[in-house]
Amino acid sequence: MNQPSPPLKSAIRAHPADGLSGVVAVPGDKSISHRALMLGGLTVGETVVSGLLEGEDVLATAEAMRAFGAEVERDDDGVWHVWGRGVGGLKQPDDVIDLGNSGTGVRLLMGLAAGHPFSTVFTGDASLRKRPMGRIARPLEAMGATFEGRDGDRLPMTVKGRECLLPITYETPVASAQIKSAVLLAGLHAPGETSVIETAASRDHTERMVRAFGGDVRVAPRDDGALVITVAGQPELTPATIAVPGDPSSAAFPLVAAALLPGAEVTVTGVGVNPLRAGLITTLQEMGAVLTLENQREEGGEPVADVRVRGHELAGVEVPPDRAPTMIDEYPILAVAASAARGRTVMRGLEELRVKESDRLSAMATGLKAAGVGVEELADGLIIDGCAGRVPGGNNTPVATHLDHRIAMSFLVLGLAAERPVTIDDAAPIATSFPDFLNLMTGLGARFEP
Ligand code: S3P
Repeated sequence: MNQPSPPLKSAIRAHPADGLSGVVAVPGDKSISHRALMLGGLTVGETVVSGLLEGEDVLATAEAMRAFGAEVERDDDGVWHVWGRGVGGLKQPDDVIDLGNSGTGVRLLMGLAAGHPFSTVFTGDASLRKRPMGRIARPLEAMGATFEGRDGDRLPMTVKGRECLLPITYETPVASAQIKSAVLLAGLHAPGETSVIETAASRDHTERMVRAFGGDVRVAPRDDGALVITVAGQPELTPATIAVPGDPSSAAFPLVAAALLPGAEVTVTGVGVNPLRAGLITTLQEMGAVLTLENQREEGGEPVADVRVRGHELAGVEVPPDRAPTMIDEYPILAVAASAARGRTVMRGLEELRVKESDRLSAMATGLKAAGVGVEELADGLIIDGCAGRVPGGNNTPVATHLDHRIAMSFLVLGLAAERPVTIDDAAPIATSFPDFLNLMTGLGARFEP
């Protein structure tokens, strides 16, 4: 049998930039986009989503929701419409559900699949097939679903759901919005109340959005300060109109690029600044970045602002480990900021970075070393001795991006702040979250070359 050929890799080189300037908007928030499509699929009637991220990850979730029987359409104005089937009303997909690179897509959909009386087979790309799924299977098995995966907890994985799940109270072993969300979404399919306990708060987009769809989610502190998040099961959700804010995790790339380059001035408009996502902004300010939030407002139940940054020398910092959940996806680009800063930056408490789209601690340490940056890789973090200005760059072997969009974008930003160009082995994964990244950065004054 012929094997499908792997997608072609596309190496790209980022040239040192003198300055960047402009006002841009970044694509919609990936986390919120996934949830809007999924929750829209659990209502009867039309949900309207503007600003949806049209990156590969979210498009894979749209395709999956269609396979589960929802109608999902994009109109000519780029607005998305979802006609769902009600809580518990999804149909069995005819084929394997392939989520590509998307951990959020697969893990949250497992929560939905668990609440339906049929089997669903999930798979993904080479990166996603390496990532642990047991963290989702364990609580959902306690609710009555069964899971069978390759090597135990890897994709491909079959989820056998139940019409009526058992409500549980589950304390997450790591701060993870994906675990919390999978359990809460499954909890919508259980009678009574399902609770998730978090000792460190993770992003709360699921909680906010279930409420926007008319569901009941309550959050209360436990005696020791942990959060108890409780969803009421078997609600009748009502369709909603959702405006997806710009993704702070995507805005991070032009913002850090501008922060690093003296003379640069960039504003990213309409960025989500939910406090549970805003750790990078706080950290950059602590490093001395000239960064301000303007025009702060609330859109679609989420805080939003225009973020303006001017290039200025940065200083190394020690990032408090308990900040990690609020900037978990931003450590690769923070490592780039640290590389150009004056002094040492220490980031710890980051074991979770080893099970993202790639092992991000190892990928960053290896690539930064190749670009001449002093970096020490710890079991749970990185220590970076900044170059107090431009990093050397000029790596001979292209940086290995390991199918990881954030590693790819981080090293392209590093090239802008280097003395000599930085080359990455593959820009293709950028399309998972930020398909227009190269154009947007070019519009600000960056130069890339195949
Ligand atoms: C996400 C949660 C985070 C984050 C991911 C998106 C979400 O993962 O890294 O990119 O949308 O819930 P964890 O839940 O594994 O921390």
